[in-house]
Amino acid sequence: MAEHKLKTSIAILGCGEVGSTLAYTLVLNPICGEIIMVDPKKALLEAQVRDLSDATYGGRSGTKVRAGTHKDAGQADVVVITAGAKQKPGESRLSLLSRNLHIMSSIFKNMQPISPTTILLLVANPVDILTYFARKLSGLPESQVLGTGTTLDSARLRGILAEKAEVAPNSIDAYVLGEHGDSQFIAWSNASIGTTPLHLALPVCLTPEFKAEIATHTRGAAGAIIAAKGCTAYGIGNVAASICKYILFDAHTVRPLSFYQPELGCCLSMPAVIGRRGIIRKMPVQLNEEEQTELEACARGLRAVLEGAEKELSADKELEKVLEEMRR
Ligand SMILES: NC(=O)c1ccc[n+]([C@@H]2O[C@H](COP(=O)([O-])OP(=O)(O)OC[C@H]3O[C@@H](n4cnc5c(N)ncnc54)[C@H](O)[C@@H]3O)[C@@H](O)[C@H]2O)c1
Repeated sequence: MAEHKLKTSIAILGCGEVGSTLAYTLVLNPICGEIIMVDPKKALLEAQVRDLSDATYGGRSGTKVRAGTHKDAGQADVVVITAGAKQKPGESRLSLLSRNLHIMSSIFKNMQPISPTTILLLVANPVDILTYFARKLSGLPESQVLGTGTTLDSARLRGILAEKAEVAPNSIDAYVLGEHGDSQFIAWSNASIGTTPLHLALPVCLTPEFKAEIATHTRGAAGAIIAAKGCTAYGIGNVAASICKYILFDAHTVRPLSFYQPELGCCLSMPAVIGRRGIIRKMPVQLNEEEQTELEACARGLRAVLEGAEKELSADKELEKVLEEMRR
């Protein structure tokens, strides 16, 4: 394991709140030999690298932190994309799209040629839409491009249910699926505590009002934290670090991740097995009629956004062409 650790690298694009928290989590729980930080804000980048390096000198971490370029990042084993604008208080994830789509398109231009074995992990929002475009812009196989999706929302769900049921959160099997955003839904029909279905383990609590209250909480948790402190970082930092570990250690762990769903024509979260090759396989889920309807509505909404974004990207390409011709 130690030898494996020393050989692998994780590049983090964007060293703001989320990128630096992820890097710190990886320094405290070392899983790779090198963390490459990339950010166009040079002073911030240097300061983060120095501060993070200070945390490695205690002797516990075999991980080195250094600044790099987008091109260096393209050779890493895992590239985590946290680069981008963040939500302003009250702003929806989808309204971030235009700004972050432009950042993504420049990132992929600068990263080429990307190593054919790199796994891309999207964190920047709106994560499902950006994961969809990262597949197209990176040129990597579909299985190697994934987004954190509803992993964080599902962790929040496990936290609430664990408290109600008075059991440890890792004894709860319950997933938020679909969009990491407003149209997400909870797959209640599949939820269990140990092997006990949730409706048997928590019969008193599982009323329609209780379910609606929990769904509102998981959907709105980020917004409430952002309103008070301007960002969310610890939860997502921990989730992204765990996904990096599942990839580098070829763990074959099942998590709800955002990846391309051919039958729905978009990227959204469904349970999948993750390992060194990225998405190893999708796990089949049996949804009830209501959940299936929610899934389809969620995909319809995401497809509508994708269509608008495709138009914006092609208008950009047209503009680029005209500017190029004017420069000649
Ligand atoms: N998926 C999730 O569950 C989840 C949770 C929290 C935050 N997020 C998202 O993560 C993103 C980052 O949030 P944050 O709070 O760290 O924002 P931040 O503003 O603190 O940091 C973003 C950093 O990206 C950098 N950046 C911009 N263009 C870049 C480029 N081309 N290459 C490299 N770096 C670039 C900026 O300079 C900045 O330092 C946001 O989109 C936010 O919505 C996602």
